[in-house]
Amino acid sequence: MCGIVGYVGKSQAAPVLLDGLAKLEYRGYDSAGMAVYDGNKIAFEKALGRLKVLSEKTHDGETMPGTIGIGHTRWATHGEPSEINSHPHLNESETIAVVHNGIIENYAKLKDKLISRGYSFKSQTDTEVVAHLLDYYYKGDPLEAITKVMHRVEGSYALGIIFAEHPDEIFAVRKDSPLIVGRGKDGNLIASDVPAVLKYTRNVYFIDNGEIAHLTEDAIDFFDVDGQPIEKESKTIEWDAEAASKGGYEYFMEKEIHEQPKTIRDTLSHHVKDGKVNIEGFNMSEDDMRQISRIRIVACGSAYHTGVTAKYIYEGMCRIPVECDLASEFRYRNPILDPNELVVIISQSGETADSKAALIYAKEQGIRTLAIVNVEGSSIARDADIVVLTYAGPEIAVATTKAYSAQLMTHYLLAISFGKALGKVSEEDEAKYIQSMRKLPEQIEMVLNNKERIQRFANRYVTAHDVYFIGRGVDYAISLEASLKLKEISYIHSEAYAAGELKHGTISLIEEGTLVGAVCTQKELLPKSISNIVEVKSRGAFVIAVTTVGNTEVEEVADYVMYIPETDQYFTNSLAIIPLQLFAYYVTLGKGFDVDKPRNLAKSVTVE
Ligand code: AGP
Repeated sequence: MCGIVGYVGKSQAAPVLLDGLAKLEYRGYDSAGMAVYDGNKIAFEKALGRLKVLSEKTHDGETMPGTIGIGHTRWATHGEPSEINSHPHLNESETIAVVHNGIIENYAKLKDKLISRGYSFKSQTDTEVVAHLLDYYYKGDPLEAITKVMHRVEGSYALGIIFAEHPDEIFAVRKDSPLIVGRGKDGNLIASDVPAVLKYTRNVYFIDNGEIAHLTEDAIDFFDVDGQPIEKESKTIEWDAEAASKGGYEYFMEKEIHEQPKTIRDTLSHHVKDGKVNIEGFNMSEDDMRQISRIRIVACGSAYHTGVTAKYIYEGMCRIPVECDLASEFRYRNPILDPNELVVIISQSGETADSKAALIYAKEQGIRTLAIVNVEGSSIARDADIVVLTYAGPEIAVATTKAYSAQLMTHYLLAISFGKALGKVSEEDEAKYIQSMRKLPEQIEMVLNNKERIQRFANRYVTAHDVYFIGRGVDYAISLEASLKLKEISYIHSEAYAAGELKHGTISLIEEGTLVGAVCTQKELLPKSISNIVEVKSRGAFVIAVTTVGNTEVEEVADYVMYIPETDQYFTNSLAIIPLQLFAYYVTLGKGFDVDKPRNLAKSVTVE
């Protein structure tokens, strides 16, 4: 995905654009650019590499005077990262400039048509087609040209557009890619996400599909895809700019790891009232829950890993059948859906293309959908039948931590609600679970207080090439997440295995010194987990174990043990993942990589 910003007002635009782009770099960071109307023409600058290259090139925007402009930070989809492929893209006469987040799926056909009409292209991008198509339809009325383009292009887009002949106006258009409008004191803004505008305003509009926003310095109007005026309600953003800044930490990931106790407290405060789980928070009645024949969890990456954990919890606690599907597989495998099942989509960003498509597919099959989402106003939050927000606040680091923890907590609370509705969770059980959950924040803090020990250990494995994580039951789900955390930011190859499965082939890769992370928090599986540790040890592995205090027998077989406090067997993921997040973080720090912006990745993958 990419990040777009726009500003029109009394201040110089370029510094505002650069500031907004800096808050959106997590959306993509292989190149950046800006277009600013300088009083005579649309001036534009592009730069390959991180945003700071563009800032340096424009002396923090000073070389681009003007009070209206658009900006872009890119995660390349069509055309390799290069200056020429960077946004903004302009028409040949450079009187129209466009920044775009999304994919124009029929760009090739449109490009051929435009070339046959004499247009020439500079870049390999799909976005440049939009610039020339606007040129083709523009006869003096920007809105008319924009609506015509919207009827021609297929795919996803959040567009920011300026016209040299309308130098006081910004147009913004949305279809499937997120877009907000901010009403500021000395000007108005567009952006892909809230953090980009928070410094200037908390008063934002979430743009819906097929809507056009028209901004001047002191007015904002909205239109539908046919150019008809529409009314929209603004929302007031509650969390502050601090929440979207590093707050003194070196990286957002470090900050967000340390915010997990607060995330859990905030989640509990939203969902637990008078010592009981407040079922209203899930927008379902107990009757609704009793009608549900099966829960099908569909997600990607870490969100999917919370689903794997949740399967063990829902089935163990509530005895309700649960299936877990990778969103990218779900709709292509022709799944057999039960009319009474509930499809649960989990997504931090609420914009992941595969998860969005899975949601739409489930709804097309007439299946009820529930979304667990961290971004209010996101596409998935708007399209699901039932929305359960998580309370992690803005998560900026590409590698998710606090949103992952918030998703786990939401699963625990939903499972307790289902268990009560199905008569599988008594009031005593509920009280016991709530007591355990309330302890989690301080228990996480205890683990975090031990981080220097983890850092010292991690520094020894900066040069590791292959790391295997193994576990049984919930510990397997934890292993999946531990492995992804390590590889996505340190670029060290890692795999997660159900501990009992390793010996069916992959154990042949274990040799002298191979690092194996053994997660063994499940008491009743501990003897089996210990024998799996012995299996890999006997083939030369160096084993780091994560286990619950008291499981001292693990010390007899593992080379290094990270202990977590005692908690309910269903909730151990919330504690065991902390040292494993820290391990990945410190190994990456030791390698000197950018922890928050790993190569090839973006915070939300808005392409299939
Ligand atoms: C997790 O660290 C990764 N950034 C990635 O796997 C992520 O969880 C996945 O892309 C899903 O994103 P979403 O939760 O925003 O849908």
